[in-house]
Parts: sequence; structure tokens; C-alpha cells
Amino acid sequence: MQNGIQVAIDGPASAGKSTVAKLVAKRFNYVYCDTGAMYRVVTLAALQQGIAMDGTKQIADLARQVKISFKPGDPEQRVFLNGEEVTTAIRQGEIDNNVSAVAAIPAVRQEMTNQQRQIAQTGGIVMDGRDIGSTVLPNAPVKIFMVATAHERARRRYVENKEKGIATASLAELQHEIELRDQKDSSRKVSPLVQAPDAIRLDTTKLTIDEVVDKISDIIKKTLNELS
Ligand code: CDP
Ligand code: CDP
Repeated sequence: MQNGIQVAIDGPASAGKSTVAKLVAKRFNYVYCDTGAMYRVVTLAALQQGIAMDGTKQIADLARQVKISFKPGDPEQRVFLNGEEVTTAIRQGEIDNNVSAVAAIPAVRQEMTNQQRQIAQTGGIVMDGRDIGSTVLPNAPVKIFMVATAHERARRRYVENKEKGIATASLAELQHEIELRDQKDSSRKVSPLVQAPDAIRLDTTKLTIDEVVDKISDIIKKTLNELS
């Protein structure tokens, strides 16, 4: 099976992308790459340095300077900014509320896209985000567009925050924030959140994590068979 294939998983916030992508990667012994975490790290770095969120040029320069790295971790992949662990720091509400503005800066996207393509070069990768199937890896043989209702996604995020001990807004506020971020991500000029024409749409509203993992695994196996 050489080094394996590229699997692109896109969709709106809290559709279940990272949870499922991580498990699928484990099942196939592929590398997992959380591209949302990369935009979150740039946002955190900008906030730490007191750069205003409309400081486009400064944020773009910062995106080129910071070193983003990952280490396997259980249950969560560990994330580092210039060698310092920021796994929890990048999940704060302040990052949620500012990351879409940072991710809309074309030069930031260009830098992240270059880094993501490099990571995916060897194949055998599951990458999740917003523009993986449409822009970062347009030739990925498996593309999934994962969706769920905004209400269900807010509920998942609420439960997740509580479980992780992250300060959480109310369910209604979370749903509002999620809808706002969906709208920003879908309407930006460069690489908006959009389903690639050849992506398979998967509604996870009523599915368990295991059911979603099984469905994607079947699609990967079928694709591997077709390619062999
Ligand atoms: O975990 P959640 O779905 O809330 O978000 P995330 O995957 O961590 O991504 C955070 C933000 O980064 C998104 O709302 C997008 O604004 C941006 N993002 C992006 O623009 N392109 C990607 N490939 C991944 C994330
Ligand atoms: O990466 P993304 O923002 O799309 O979602 P996530 O962070 O993987 O998932 C958000 C929460 O929904 C996690 O706490 C999952 O355990 C939960 N969940 C799910 O991912 N899939 C389901 N089918 C049900 C719940």
C-alpha cells in the first residue's frame, strides 16, 4: 500500500472532524494533521504580542515566523508554539472569537497551505480543516465534507468544554458563536468553507463517533481497493 493515501476532512465547527480524523488515522496508521490548530496557534501568537486583529501585515509576518509543531498525545494531539505547549491555550473562547479573522488573511492562508502541503507530501495522512479538499489537497483520493445541525454542534462543544474544564458560554451563546464563525468562514474571499465537488457529504447529527469512523474507514478501504 506504499505510504497510504491522502484523506481530506472538511466541515464547519464541531461537526466532529478532529475527533473522527484522529481515530481514522489511528486505524490506518496514518499521520493526523489538525489544520485548525495551526490557525489557532497564529491567533494566539498575535494576541500574545498585542497585535490588533486588523493588523494584516503584522499577522502575516508572524505566521511566517512562528514554529508550529505537533506531538502525539492521548486523548488530544499536543500542539506547540515555538517549542512551548499551547494545547489548551488555543481552545480558549478568545481564540474561538478571533481565529476566523486571522484565517481570512490571504498571506496567512498561503503560509499555512504551504506548510500543510509539505506535511501531506508523503501520503498516509488524514488532514482536517475547512479548505483541505477544495484548496490544500485538491487531488486527495478521499474527501469528506462533514456536517451537523448548528444546535447539535453547539451541544457537543458545550459538553466538551465542561468535560475539559474550559470556561464555557451558555448553549445559546455557543450556538450563536458557531453560526457567526460558520458565516465568516463560508463568506471569506480566499479559500472559503465550501464542499469540494467530488467530496462525500456526511451528516453526523444523529451518528455516534464510532459510526462516523466506520463509514469513513469503509470509504478509504473502497478507494484503496480501486487504486490497487
Ligand atoms: O475545532 P473547530 O471546528 O471549532 O475549529 P478549528 O478546526 O480548530 O478551526 C478554527 C478556525 O480556523 C476555523 O473557524 C477557521 O476560521 C480556521 N480554519 C481555516 O480557515 N482553514 C482550515 N483549514 C482550518 C481552520
Ligand atoms: O473538529 P470539529 O470542530 O469538527 O469537532 P470535534 O472537536 O472533533 O468534535 C466536537 C465534539 O463533538 C467532541 O467532543 C466529540 O466527542 C463530539 N462528537 C463528535 O465528534 N461526533 C459525534 N458523532 C458525536 C459527538
